[in-house]
Amino acid sequence: MNLLSVNNLSHTFEYKLFSDVNLELNSGETIAIIGMSGSGKSTLLHILSTLLTQDEGSVSLFGEEISSMSKKKLTEIKRYDLGLIFQSHYLFNGFTAYENLEVSEILSQNKIDEILLERLNIKKVIENKVTKLSGGQQQRVSIARVLTKQPRIIFADEPTGNLDTKTADNVMQLFFEYCKDKNAGMILVTHDENLAHKCQKVYQLEDKKLQQIK
Ligand SMILES: Nc1ncnc2c1ncn2[C@@H]1O[C@H](COP(=O)(O)OP(=O)(O)O)[C@@H](O)[C@H]1O
Ligand SMILES: [Mg+2]
Repeated sequence: MNLLSVNNLSHTFEYKLFSDVNLELNSGETIAIIGMSGSGKSTLLHILSTLLTQDEGSVSLFGEEISSMSKKKLTEIKRYDLGLIFQSHYLFNGFTAYENLEVSEILSQNKIDEILLERLNIKKVIENKVTKLSGGQQQRVSIARVLTKQPRIIFADEPTGNLDTKTADNVMQLFFEYCKDKNAGMILVTHDENLAHKCQKVYQLEDKKLQQIK
């Protein structure tokens, strides 16, 4: 099933970032986007995940163009179907890590998965306030929060940026298993080519174009 479809997308800030971007994501598929710093990877991910509106072209999620969705439909899709793992984590700072996960549990009506907490190695710190956690721990709590809601698409922007190699490998393994088990899709933005090549397809954003290289 087609989860995401991008047609002739262009976007400009101070200068043109990219144009004529086309991309398809299907169920169970993992795609990496690589490119140099400043090439527009994060901007592209923001557009695909409905956080930013493009200058030209269209993006469809689950067969419907974002621009023609009602506000209600868009809110529901964001709440239930999209999992955003970005560098700014947007955890609720006044709360503990566990309370942050409970928000996802309540919204999605899925139980927090204890095995997930073990695999992300955050069980020990789960009762701590978010502000008391290291950057890497916060990153893993935000990953646990996103997976708890069981999204149909994961958008991840350098999700292992704060993690050591071993922890990063574990986290990536978790994403790949999740996509396989739930038949979900993932778009991973990274500057790490090794990591990128663990995805089924790899695209490169270069010279304002998105080109498939694997
Ligand atoms: N909201 C914004 N307003 C103006 N310029 C922006 C905005 N977001 C990003 N940019 C600019 O767009 C360019 C690409 O940024 P970004 O998408 O973050 O690239 P990447 O993630 O590949 O490093 C940068 O020059 C950045 O300064
Ligand atoms: Mg970026």
